[in-house]
Amino acid sequence: MTKGIYIVLSNCQLARDTWEMVLGGDTSALTNPGQFINIAIEGLYLRRPISVCCYDPGTITIIYKVVGKGTRKLSAMTPGDTLDVIVGLGNGFDVAKAHGRKIAVIGGGVGVPPMYDTARRLAAQGEDVTAILGFATKDVSFYIEKFEALGVRLMITTDDGSMGQKGFVTDALRESGCDYVMACGPTPMLKGVHRSGIEGQLSFEERMGCGFGACMGCTCQTLVGPKRVCLDGPVFSTSEVSFE
Ligand SMILES: Cc1cc2nc3c(=O)[nH]c(=O)nc-3n(C[C@H](O)[C@H](O)[C@H](O)COP(=O)(O)OP(=O)(O)OC[C@H]3O[C@@H](n4cnc5c(N)ncnc54)[C@H](O)[C@@H]3O)c2cc1C
Ligand code: FES
Repeated sequence: MTKGIYIVLSNCQLARDTWEMVLGGDTSALTNPGQFINIAIEGLYLRRPISVCCYDPGTITIIYKVVGKGTRKLSAMTPGDTLDVIVGLGNGFDVAKAHGRKIAVIGGGVGVPPMYDTARRLAAQGEDVTAILGFATKDVSFYIEKFEALGVRLMITTDDGSMGQKGFVTDALRESGCDYVMACGPTPMLKGVHRSGIEGQLSFEERMGCGFGACMGCTCQTLVGPKRVCLDGPVFSTSEVSFE
């Protein structure tokens, strides 16, 4: 984990209320896809956690939805501005565990960004990958071409049928024939994926307080008791998660 000042290299709107920001700075603390960063935003007490969409030496790309004060402030930033960021938080996905399986990489809404790097790594390893991306409507969709460019099989669902198949990612998962899941999205989506009974890894985006394990404000239920999403997760295996 590193804390430092990162420079905004670009900040572009991708879809309705959805922005992509590229930050320049030290990326040495990043090891796995699905890790997150915690951004200090001027005038706000708590940092805002955002998943790493992808990274290369010296740059980190994030995608965020404008939902409140913090993300609205982020969307107003321009190249050359700086941010105080903690980088390399959380465990991320273990791509090695999926080796040789028929893998469904599933993202729902703002759960799609961490799945991009996950799919990118799996594709680079020559794995059999089906990316299943779910959005509410076409106008909030993003990164479709980026996933296409990875050469993975792609299934898109929207709640209203304005793009791809009408329905939920769980419908596409059933049709995909996959036998391993790696997923990030809202809790009801993760619950649906978990209910499929397919083995794999789930990433939670719970509301956070401190972001470093001290407040228990981000706990999720597991079979061995509550665990902290910020420190023990955000990725948990399907066998340890409980939605009861
Ligand atoms: C590990 C992790 C990774 C995340 N990755 C991403 C990402 O890649 N892209 C992205 O857009 N968002 C992501 N989020 C959610 C993001 O942190 C929140 O949307 C952000 O903190 C909201 O800040 P704000 O000041 O704009 O909104 P606030 O003013 O704090 O809140 C505005 C509204 O959003 C709701 N809200 C805030 N946080 C969450 C949350 N975590 N889940 C659901 N509702 C929330 C509040 O209840 C409120 O209704 C992630 C969260 C976690 C914990
Ligand atoms: S946010 Fe405080 S323990 Fe996770």
